[in-house]
Amino acid sequence: MEIIIVLDFGGQYAHLIIRRIRDLGVYAEILPFDITIDKIKEIKPKALILSGGPSSVYKENSPKLTQEFFQYSTENKIPILGICYGFHLIIYHLGGKIEPFDKKEYGKTTLIIPETSLLFNSLKKEEVVWMSHGDQVSSLPEGFNILAKTETCPIASYGNNEKRLYGVQFHPEVVNTPKGNIILENFVFKISQCKKEWKLENWIEQTIKIIRKKVGKENRVVLGLSGGVDSSVAAVLLHKAIGDRLHCIFVNNGLLRKNEELAVQETFQNRLKFENFHYVNAEELFLERLKDIADPEEKRRIIGHTFIEIFENKTVELEKTYPNIKYLAQGTIYPDRVESSITSQTSAKIKSHHNVTLPDNMMLEIIEPLKELYKDEVRKIGIRLGIPKDLVSRHPFPGPGLAVRIIGPIEKKKLQIIREADDILIKEIKKAGIYENLWQAFCVFLNTKTVGIMGDCRTYENICAIRVVESVDAMTASFAKLDMNLLEKISTRIINEVKGINRVVYDISNKPPSTIEYE
Ligand code: XMP
Repeated sequence: MEIIIVLDFGGQYAHLIIRRIRDLGVYAEILPFDITIDKIKEIKPKALILSGGPSSVYKENSPKLTQEFFQYSTENKIPILGICYGFHLIIYHLGGKIEPFDKKEYGKTTLIIPETSLLFNSLKKEEVVWMSHGDQVSSLPEGFNILAKTETCPIASYGNNEKRLYGVQFHPEVVNTPKGNIILENFVFKISQCKKEWKLENWIEQTIKIIRKKVGKENRVVLGLSGGVDSSVAAVLLHKAIGDRLHCIFVNNGLLRKNEELAVQETFQNRLKFENFHYVNAEELFLERLKDIADPEEKRRIIGHTFIEIFENKTVELEKTYPNIKYLAQGTIYPDRVESSITSQTSAKIKSHHNVTLPDNMMLEIIEPLKELYKDEVRKIGIRLGIPKDLVSRHPFPGPGLAVRIIGPIEKKKLQIIREADDILIKEIKKAGIYENLWQAFCVFLNTKTVGIMGDCRTYENICAIRVVESVDAMTASFAKLDMNLLEKISTRIINEVKGINRVVYDISNKPPSTIEYE
């Protein structure tokens, strides 16, 4: 399959470029800017895109490319599109000039396109684009033509047809550049001659083949099933590939939502008819190990390691009956890896998502069939695989479960409180018919007591925070502007019905600068 590589220079929109290209029907992947030329040669990309980034090319330690890189792309006629920082970088390496620009340009501006070109094919002479830059290109090397300008930026786009190098100072990948998609489409199809091969049906077929080949005819796979969308889709995919040689292990870590362990068993054993579904109740072990632990990363570490340990124990036990268990499958998706800094060294490590902090002495080989996909792609695949819609449309639930939704140490009592509150919230949101429009809705137990009054009595109880967000891929999120009457109903029900809560607050923070979860 053809692939477009996006080299990441630390720009906040790098992931959007991939989304747009995949939506056009071509597979794209993000890689760190300093990936070796040998690795690029191995991948044989059909085209390359250099993302934006916060640096200035003339700063000493700013990320750079090598002459070898350009030599390879020119010799193999691989088109390159530079965006913002990438736009400067091409010129920097090929002998043009970049200068700081005193009137920094941010926001919407009019792009003037004096004559037609492949890159701007079918655009009008003037189009709105989104700029965000401090530097600008002041002179081009030989062989480059100016393709567009703005009132303050005389070189807003260039092209070099012979070397197949193109660049735009603005961001075609953001919605604020309304015709940005056409520009990307022109680059992908008109300039790079890519074929529309990235279809989810093809992906399913191909992935099933890859799984079968990898696992072989004899080996067995264990999979950590959480009942969430990702591990469920991974499970069904593997089940289609290897049938009853898939062993799903569902660990009750004591950090699940209300009745979740029952619902998961019902779905996989009864509805989806999985032959090998193993339920392990490890509630006590997890809670014992988490006792008095307040640090969020420590909680994650304990949960991750305990989970793997249980897995291995259960696997060893299963091996006695089922020989040749060789693989551990996980529902890791692309954003999990990104936030744990696997793809890029330039983006800071934010949280260690437990799926990727495995101990070094891991005994089983890992299979992660969804690791290149975004959540909405996983959902679409889930539907195509025939997974019940209510399961596929379920909000994401973090691996460490309610542990990251209880600030401070975990206690059974707090878990019970947050389960009840969460159940009310979800039921009311479903009743209001908005569940599927939201990325996530959940309650958080704040480790703070406040005074209240119930009946004629003073209470001194806990605060429950409600977090409801809208998002496309969890990289950014905005708090949902819920109807006040609905919020009032939820808060009244929680305070009246959940013993231990006497105050409910609504979280009005966006991501960034906040995160979705509290820990
Ligand atoms: P944050 O809080 O980083 O969350 O904005 C982004 C998305 O990731 C989920 N999340 C996790 N998922 N293990 C997981 O499997 C984790 O440790 C974890 N932490 C956050 C979160 O629910 C949100 O959808």
